[in-house]
Amino acid sequence: MTAYADFYRQSIDHRDAFWSEQAKLIDWKTQPAQVCDYSNPPFAKWFVGGTTNLCHNAIDRHLKDRASQPALVAISTETNTERSYSFAELHAEVQRMAASLIALGVKKGDRVLIYMPMIAEAAFAMLACVRIGALHSVVFGGFASGSLASRIEDAEPVAIVSADAGSRGGKAVPYKPLLDEAIRLSRHKPAAVLLVDRGLVPMDLVAGRDHLWASLREQHLNATVPCEWVESTHPSYTLYTSGTTGKPKGVQRDTGGYTVALAASMKHIFDAKAGQTYFATSDIGWVVGHSYIIYGPLIAGMTTIMYEGLPTRPDAGVWWSIVEKYKVTHMFSAPTAVRVLKKHDASWLKKYDVSTLKALWLAGEPLDEPTAQWISDALSVPIIDNYWQTETGWPILTLANGVEQQTTRFGSPGKAMYGYHVKLIDESNGEELTQPNQKGVVAIEGPLPPGCMQTVWRDDERFVNTYWKSIPGRMIYSTFDWGIRDADGYHFILGRTDDVINVAGHRLGTREIEESISSHPNIAEVAVVGVADSLKGQVAMAFAVPRDASGLTDDAARLKLEGEVMKQVDTQLGAVARPSRVYFVTVLPKTRSGKLLRRALQAVAERRDPGDLTTMDDPAALQQVKDLVGD
Ligand code: PRX
Repeated sequence: MTAYADFYRQSIDHRDAFWSEQAKLIDWKTQPAQVCDYSNPPFAKWFVGGTTNLCHNAIDRHLKDRASQPALVAISTETNTERSYSFAELHAEVQRMAASLIALGVKKGDRVLIYMPMIAEAAFAMLACVRIGALHSVVFGGFASGSLASRIEDAEPVAIVSADAGSRGGKAVPYKPLLDEAIRLSRHKPAAVLLVDRGLVPMDLVAGRDHLWASLREQHLNATVPCEWVESTHPSYTLYTSGTTGKPKGVQRDTGGYTVALAASMKHIFDAKAGQTYFATSDIGWVVGHSYIIYGPLIAGMTTIMYEGLPTRPDAGVWWSIVEKYKVTHMFSAPTAVRVLKKHDASWLKKYDVSTLKALWLAGEPLDEPTAQWISDALSVPIIDNYWQTETGWPILTLANGVEQQTTRFGSPGKAMYGYHVKLIDESNGEELTQPNQKGVVAIEGPLPPGCMQTVWRDDERFVNTYWKSIPGRMIYSTFDWGIRDADGYHFILGRTDDVINVAGHRLGTREIEESISSHPNIAEVAVVGVADSLKGQVAMAFAVPRDASGLTDDAARLKLEGEVMKQVDTQLGAVARPSRVYFVTVLPKTRSGKLLRRALQAVAERRDPGDLTTMDDPAALQQVKDLVGD
């Protein structure tokens, strides 16, 4: 048996012994009494009886040996600033933020919503929350008032941390008006809003509610806020993600399991060492930002780089100039970003010395072979695909090069990671597929390993009903992805089984977009599908039935309504969710029993054969779509 195969088997066959060993990678205030309590499947409690703190493991623990080493470097090519914080400085900033949050009334167990651009204060806020046992709920800065409002309602935060604006392509993107509107829309009102004023746009402050970070920071300049030792099972944060229904789910994560899982992944998957430098180009609004911009690298005692800006501005060499300047050892990005770079000259990647890089990890969406090959040739470092989800918090499939150096197979994110009892399930009968190269639903037998979601925030029932299926004596978690596994254990991901689409690595629910579009007064009905796109992987495309089509007789009128619908999605959900096109039809393709034929619609929109249409009510419906999208 190879070293990794043995490691994997240990994690499955001797689960508790395996994770008890991994638990030694972090600091505990009280040692756990039990490794895993799985007495109430599918709810898994990890490291029961242990007490710890995520912020302690990310910062305080390193003060002894590396107080003056840079912990966080925040680089913005939007404002042309670079700010570096040593572990000691980060420690001080986080305590100032923690003291400010406490002054605003935040207590252990309370939620704090963070709606921030990629600036250092966003990291301070996350770390400050977990320091005092409050739960953060970061909402991606690209989301607009409607999305933000539904998350405020669900999380019921005591306080919100935000900023005057983000910036994109050199242009300020105001946040504060969107936040004010979201609070207006939400039934829940936060008691306090803490605002970082970057001086990008003017802000109107609401008296009694809004506070400026600069003045609170000043008041708490010398604050000492000890870490709150919390139960291992105490939730550290919630992070919203999309699924089949319109309402986003709050993925809830624990403290001890997550800290151990990240520490273990830094060692076994990333082969990372304290003092090295990690640069993940994601956003703190996504799970990659949580695990691999903030917590994972800091837990490992690494320097982490936070980047605000585009990969191509001021030029397509900007990321590699950062790699050279900061001697980045580990880089993490998304296939879309590579496809963007691919449009530029490969010489940008040769201009800088990237010899410090051990590898480039890519995740979030399928990594197509030509893209993998291009970046591999251009950078001359290993390219490592990794597959996981907001729900899992760390990779399900990849290569564990810290355990054993393994070969990348382009097109495959790799092998099942230790702790994940990955199975492929035949959707028709729920049976496990055991032969190579059979297509099934990628599933994980419970318990999920440490670090994965505990439940859906305040909705255990939704957690069980959404993700889990019982088969006699066991419970199986569905990833909602199709996959196959070859004879050597390499997996291939073949797309989602549900209505989730993946636009430039951003996970979006088509139902959310449909709800937004159908709230337009002249839209009776709409279907949104994901359509393959050479740059973004997928784009959303909408097919809408107008209530009153009498005015839509020419292109100008149709374009006007299309523009209105797009604007509506922009203001409600954010530009990330905006469909690439909104086509108007008189009828949507449905079965005789009235079920929307999404797959057929998607196939036609992608100019593929829609397959068996015997159940279709009105064949003319698909013909209209064909005519609109062209051949
Ligand atoms: O469909 C899979 C796709 O993205 C989904 C999870 O998205 P999210 O919750 O945003 O988490 C991203 C964490 C990296 C998955 O269900 N996906 C993610 N990584 C890959 C992928 N599809 C193919 N290959 C990948 N490497």
